[in-house]
Amino acid sequence: MNAKPTNFSAPITVLPVADVNFESLVQLYHRYLLYFGHKRDASVLRIFLSKILSKDFSYCLVAKADEDTIGFCAGVYSYSPVALGLALTINDLYVDDPWRRKNVGRILIKTLESYANQRGANTLFVNTDANIPWLTPYYEQIGFFAINHRTLVKRLNKESQ
Ligand SMILES: CC(C)(COP(=O)(O)OP(=O)(O)OC[C@H]1O[C@@H](n2cnc3c(N)ncnc32)[C@H](O)[C@@H]1OP(=O)(O)O)[C@@H](O)C(=O)NCCC(=O)NCCS
Repeated sequence: MNAKPTNFSAPITVLPVADVNFESLVQLYHRYLLYFGHKRDASVLRIFLSKILSKDFSYCLVAKADEDTIGFCAGVYSYSPVALGLALTINDLYVDDPWRRKNVGRILIKTLESYANQRGANTLFVNTDANIPWLTPYYEQIGFFAINHRTLVKRLNKESQ
């Protein structure tokens, strides 16, 4: 991991993923997955990221402090009957440990929100992790409210496109 601050003063910048070095993004996703206990080969991640990031329905922003790639927020656009229009669902949010609680997560979400607005979305959804109790209040502080508490998964026996 790019360790750093106790006290840092580097300004945080948030960039669309296309403007970020691809290899630093692969490493960032690697740390994110490891945080949740998923070990993935970098080669597999490279293929996954090239696929997903080339899709028009997906969107990803990356936070940098100087040259360090320190966090990201990613989502997918879809038409939602709840939103009665275009919505962006935030599926992934991650900030490297040394940079946490310094507003980076909030800046990422706020910036994603303004990109979603520009694209014509009227709603943001976010999936939380029930094992992290402070996460729902965290999102509530930045304007979200809960509509349900669960996500269920069914794996389809199929190669992804
Ligand atoms: C969730 C995450 C992205 C938040 O990013 P962040 O940059 O640290 O968050 P911010 O600085 O914008 O906001 C901090 C606020 O979040 C809440 N918070 C963050 N970490 C917390 C913790 N460990 N315990 C309790 N509250 C916490 C607090 O309200 C905090 O405000 P405070 O520091 O004034 O008390 C970051 O903790 C992270 O990457 N965690 C690991 C991955 C993860 O859980 N992702 C989300 C699910 S996909």
